[in-house]
Amino acid sequence: MTKQRVVILGSTGSIGRSTLEVIAALPEQFEVAGLAAGINWQLLAEQARQFRPEAVSLVADQPGRSLCDVLPAGCGLFTGTDSAAELVRKVQADIVVNAIVGVAGLKATLEAVRRAKRVAIANKEPLVVAGPLILAEAARHGTEITPIDSEHSALFQAMLGGSKDEILKVYLTASGGPFRQWTRERMDQATVEQALAHPTWQMGRKITVDSATMMNKALEIVEACRLFGLRTEQVLVLVHPESVIHSIVQFRDGSFLAQLSSPDMRVPISYALTYPKRLAGPAKILDVYALRQLNFEPPDIERFPAIELGYEVVRTGGTSGAVVNASNEVAVDAFLNGQIPFGKIVPTVRQVLQRHMIGSADSLASLLEADNWARRQTAALLGVCCRAGRAV
Ligand SMILES: NC(=O)c1ccc[n+]([C@@H]2O[C@H](COP(=O)([O-])OP(=O)(O)OC[C@H]3O[C@@H](n4cnc5c(N)ncnc54)[C@H](OP(=O)(O)O)[C@@H]3O)[C@@H](O)[C@H]2O)c1
Repeated sequence: MTKQRVVILGSTGSIGRSTLEVIAALPEQFEVAGLAAGINWQLLAEQARQFRPEAVSLVADQPGRSLCDVLPAGCGLFTGTDSAAELVRKVQADIVVNAIVGVAGLKATLEAVRRAKRVAIANKEPLVVAGPLILAEAARHGTEITPIDSEHSALFQAMLGGSKDEILKVYLTASGGPFRQWTRERMDQATVEQALAHPTWQMGRKITVDSATMMNKALEIVEACRLFGLRTEQVLVLVHPESVIHSIVQFRDGSFLAQLSSPDMRVPISYALTYPKRLAGPAKILDVYALRQLNFEPPDIERFPAIELGYEVVRTGGTSGAVVNASNEVAVDAFLNGQIPFGKIVPTVRQVLQRHMIGSADSLASLLEADNWARRQTAALLGVCCRAGRAV
């Protein structure tokens, strides 16, 4: 059997490292063709020595020389802002796994849907910013998109149980994050350490803060509507603190199909790589006898107003996704740098969206312009620096 060649974008992050663990457990099926990272050249070099890719890429070009010295012989290197997109253009791959964080992964996503047979996507922000463009490109090139986000992987799997017109609703489950039971006043003053203490998932810093504000669910509402062609009324949020049921599809005959597993991202990553097959991977297997109780509750929109922004983006369309995403990226960054309190993140994003004149989303240029505008507006409102030259 020929091995599938896999390029991993964001290989040094939480999803990227888990993807490499899945590939290491399935050496007959997959080989690593390329790895892309942002700044962590030491880990990238270590991964290159273990997995022997054809080439790697790094955004920061400063350590390029040091990296060159420690890469295995014959391994190509691309550096600079657009290096992940360049890697996708130059290295032939069957599957591209996109695990970059933020809109920084947008150009590479577009390159990947034009070139690979399959794009396994964890990087939800490009789908929020430019979902219709990405999906149109994928359709034009016949590229399969398999979701890695656990909720969307669960929906993807449960939807195999019926046809699209038989689906009434979907329930995106949410752990509720570290502040599920906190008052709004207490949450407003939460520290970075408290926001990063997620009760069930080990993830990168940005998505962990998004889980604490529940902006992550807003992004996922947009992702679900776009990936599966659902209307906003069909997508509901269901708080489920144990994170065992990863989402549910309700069919018109009264059946509900859900997908369960331990909260281990290697389960949806394996499925996104091996679909339509299921292979034994390295993930922890759920002990169903140990499950004493599964709890469910509706989300509290008063304490977590970010959720509404997801519905608003889908209803409004155009450049609204680019604005909400960019504003959130700047505000989360400012919070993580200790520049603003936790309670400022969501109201600032809402304020920036209100100031925005929604434009058309039919070109990458208009989306990037909206992204830039929202970054400057957010930075000005928060009194922080707007980092120029962001990789998109
Ligand atoms: N973690 C999860 O469990 C989880 C679950 C569902 C969805 N997701 C989504 O998956 C994506 C990744 O999340 P994560 O938690 O894995 O984030 P993470 O741990 O912060 O990792 C981000 C990765 O992106 C790389 N990166 C950043 N900017 C880049 C650029 N311009 N070009 C190339 N690489 C770049 C980073 O490289 P350096 O470290 O070298 O800078 C790192 O490898 C996010 O969109 C998140 O919403 C994550």
